[in-house]
Amino acid sequence: MLRDLSPKKKFALLLIAIYVISLPIISTLTYIILKDNAVRDAYDAGKLLLSTVEAVKHYVAEELRPVFYKEMPGRFIVEGMSRSYVAGDIARRVQKEHPNDKYINASLSPMNPQNAADEFQSGIINTFIRNRELKEWRGFRTRPDGEYYVIARAGQPFTADCLLCHGDPSVAPKELVERYGPTAGFNKKIGQLEDATFVYIPIGVPLAAARKVVAIFIGLYTLSFGIILIIINVHFTRLYNQSEADKKRIEEINLELMDLNRDMESIISERTMNLIALSVADRVRNPATAIAGTFNRILRKEALSDPLRERLSDLMLEAQKLDAIVKDYETILRGRQIMFRVEDLNEIVRSVLPLMESERKEKDIEITLRLAEKPPRCVVNRQLIRVAVLHVLKNAVEATPPGGAITIATSSDEDHISLSIADTGRGIPEEEIPKIFSLFYSTKKHRIGMGLPLVKQILEEHKGAISVESIVGRGSAFLITLPVRWSEQELEGKEK
Ligand code: HEC
Repeated sequence: MLRDLSPKKKFALLLIAIYVISLPIISTLTYIILKDNAVRDAYDAGKLLLSTVEAVKHYVAEELRPVFYKEMPGRFIVEGMSRSYVAGDIARRVQKEHPNDKYINASLSPMNPQNAADEFQSGIINTFIRNRELKEWRGFRTRPDGEYYVIARAGQPFTADCLLCHGDPSVAPKELVERYGPTAGFNKKIGQLEDATFVYIPIGVPLAAARKVVAIFIGLYTLSFGIILIIINVHFTRLYNQSEADKKRIEEINLELMDLNRDMESIISERTMNLIALSVADRVRNPATAIAGTFNRILRKEALSDPLRERLSDLMLEAQKLDAIVKDYETILRGRQIMFRVEDLNEIVRSVLPLMESERKEKDIEITLRLAEKPPRCVVNRQLIRVAVLHVLKNAVEATPPGGAITIATSSDEDHISLSIADTGRGIPEEEIPKIFSLFYSTKKHRIGMGLPLVKQILEEHKGAISVESIVGRGSAFLITLPVRWSEQELEGKEK
């Protein structure tokens, strides 16, 4: 089925296939790359927030808290001694500048109810509890207020130090229990993990931008494929039409060549037959006339017996009949010879040119036409003159080297019209010029003068002439002349 399609359709189909296959691959890849960039930006922003908060936590635990313990033993001041309180407060201050970035230190059973993990956060914290090796989790989270990229880091397991405030509530600082109540956030065990820190970076906007870029890309990609498809379609159609036209033209030229050949053959054979017939008629007529005359004289002058006279006059009648038949025959033959009409030499030249077109193109020969403005007309047999012109032109093309030039010119004066065909070929040596028109001179090796005897014969029958001027190495110029009108004797001469 595919094989039956035209090359144009095959190509279009191939292009569409390429489009259909490449579009999802390229657009997916583009989206992946753009999304990756957006995620990396979000991760960098989240990491900065996380490490800032962690740094604060460390500062509280390692710097502030020991000072407080030392200066105010037994006291507990949340604002200076709770890592998570200070960190949470700092994070809230940062969020004033970046309202979209969210930080939370979520716990499964927090001291501060604000730190209670939601369902999603509990899931992540449980993952960290199950897999203590895992320190960080990253992923997407869609919330009612938009799409977020989430980084979660596992919290710090409780140590003996921590239990001072997170262990038995009766041991914990008084202010702490007063502030948060005696249940939540206490009774932790050493090594127990209960929390994780989360940052939420909004990613909806950059992802939408990435999707928009991909959409624009798909549009442009489709558009360019469409344009390419149209261009190829137009181009193919033009090329196809061109080659079809060329094919038709070649067929036409072939047909014309065949026609010309057939015409020529029939003309030649007819002419030969006519010539033979005429010469036979000529030979029969004279004796027939002589015999009839002799019989006539004998019948008139001699005294003959009646039976003999009767037989002789019968014979004389037969001879006269023969004479009449021959005369009729001649008349018919002459009538058939009239195939001469007024023709335009320019038009004949133009009609012959296409017949040599393929040879001309093959050798890249340039043909210049300098045709007379006023059509040079004369009475000729069109097909014969075409044959003559074709032969001379063919000789010129064969003699001209590739890239050479041929000039064809016509002109007319009161009495003659002429045609010259000049080439830039190898030329003909002077001593050979007289021979090229003779029937038995053939330089097939050089292919000079192929068919020139025929050309000469045709022209002579038209009372015209052909001559050549040539310089070896420079080229040859054949000149054909034809009389505009034939004189009375010439016409009569032709009829004999
Ligand atoms: C001096 C007392 C104190 C010590 C010591 C202490 N914490 Fe806390 N911790 C608190 C207070 C108070 C809060 C509540 C702060 C708030 O309001 O956000 C808290 C909150 C937390 C939270 C946030 C969740 C929640 O319960 O609200 C975590 C997690 C936590 N502490 C872990 C630890 C770990 C682990 C250690 C040991 C490395 C530790 N704490 C040491 C006082 C303490």
